[in-house]
Amino acid sequence: MTAEEFRRHGRAAVDWIADYWGRVESLPVRSQVQPGWVREQLPPAPPYVGEPFDAVLADLDTIVVPGLTHWQHPGFFAYFPTSTSGPAVLAELLASGLGVQGMLWQTSPACTELEQHVLDWLAAMLALPEKFTFAGTGGGVIQDTASSAILVALVAALHRISDGQVAREGIERGRYAVYTSTQTNSALEKGVRISGLGASSIRFIETRSDLSMDPDALRAVMKKDVAQGIVPVMVMATVGTTSTGAVDPVESIGRICRESEVWLHVDAAYAGVAAMCPEFRWIHQGVAAYADSYSTNPHKWMLTAFDCDACYVADRESLVGALSVLPEFLRNPATDSGAVVDYRDWQVPLGRRFRALKLWAVIRCYGVEGLRTHLRHSVALAQRFAAWVGADERFELMAPHPLSLVCFRLRGADEINRRLLEALNASGRVYLSHTVIHGAFTLRLAIGGTATRLEHVAAAWDQISRLAAVCG
Ligand SMILES: Cc1ncc(COP(=O)(O)O)c(C=O)c1O
Repeated sequence: MTAEEFRRHGRAAVDWIADYWGRVESLPVRSQVQPGWVREQLPPAPPYVGEPFDAVLADLDTIVVPGLTHWQHPGFFAYFPTSTSGPAVLAELLASGLGVQGMLWQTSPACTELEQHVLDWLAAMLALPEKFTFAGTGGGVIQDTASSAILVALVAALHRISDGQVAREGIERGRYAVYTSTQTNSALEKGVRISGLGASSIRFIETRSDLSMDPDALRAVMKKDVAQGIVPVMVMATVGTTSTGAVDPVESIGRICRESEVWLHVDAAYAGVAAMCPEFRWIHQGVAAYADSYSTNPHKWMLTAFDCDACYVADRESLVGALSVLPEFLRNPATDSGAVVDYRDWQVPLGRRFRALKLWAVIRCYGVEGLRTHLRHSVALAQRFAAWVGADERFELMAPHPLSLVCFRLRGADEINRRLLEALNASGRVYLSHTVIHGAFTLRLAIGGTATRLEHVAAAWDQISRLAAVCG
């Protein structure tokens, strides 16, 4: 592709995205294709002779779009959103165009230093403590997702508790245990499997009535393990669980961790960014005093295109010690000087994308004020929705809803709630998901998409209310 062709097709691609955002509301939110449909539209073999880029764009409309579930649709309420935005997408384009790979400081100093700086900014925006910044003993790193943040935190915790033995010799079977609530995301179990600890090392701690982890239960389970010679290695608290948005009592959990010198990771994948607003900062109570690591996903609710997880550690030595491998071909004077950060030591892969560019663009273009407006807007919409549900006696609210996730159900059998969910999702106008709370099938409505406005939430409620009359 020549430079001139690139300009022409580039404009067409940007126009295509702008048009897509303009028309996405008219498309069915959840893809309606049957399994195998997309592959049936594709030729069995790749083209031998290259095709014009226009042909790719044309197939986007006919093959790809019908096979999409539209996460940018204003009626997408199913999972936590991937709120994207113009500044994020343009910065992604620039990052691809630059095509740098920032494994070492030396392979692109701007890639590393911009990331360090923007993550220090974000720490300040979320009122995270200095220990998580490069002015302190730790620092931030962008991971692809919260799952990777959990995995590297776990590996760092193992490194610290074993004084490096795990990195050298591997894990002794049955020696370590990891603790989290029954409401945890699947990511920790995946992490313990990858790390070699094995799923049997996880202790799922019971929750209180609000579905947050019960610290007394944690203390009891940990005590039992210690009595049996098992070493507690990490507790993972969740600020905003996937199922209901429950916020674990980080402060009480942290005190228990401190007594036993156990690593505390705080998974705030969805909710953490809300701490940008002073009125929601309570969700981080205890993080400053007790967390050894913390992560939140700007790609969920902070207008930063997927993927972007902001991961912080209080002691960068444990993380780097666990993950640093320095073959001769990566040696360079900057690394040897010890004066730079080499992010290859902070993550699973060696190579890395220039993700900081989009986070930087988002923070600069929206400013703290603009981002707070987006977060507050989502919370206000969720509160309006919850008020409508609460005022209709056919329904019940199933969990506290301090932020932008509302869990609710029709009073009565699970079956009518299943029917209601399927009817809503089949309509193509909204997409919700479900969970099980206290044994009951429950609908989840998660707000936070870039385009969602009051009219969309009101339309969703109107539809829920009408279909309830049919399904109930
Ligand atoms: C609380 C929580 N933790 C972890 C995850 C996993 O997220 P990721 O896709 O970033 O690994 C999610 C996803 O929704 C989540 O809600």
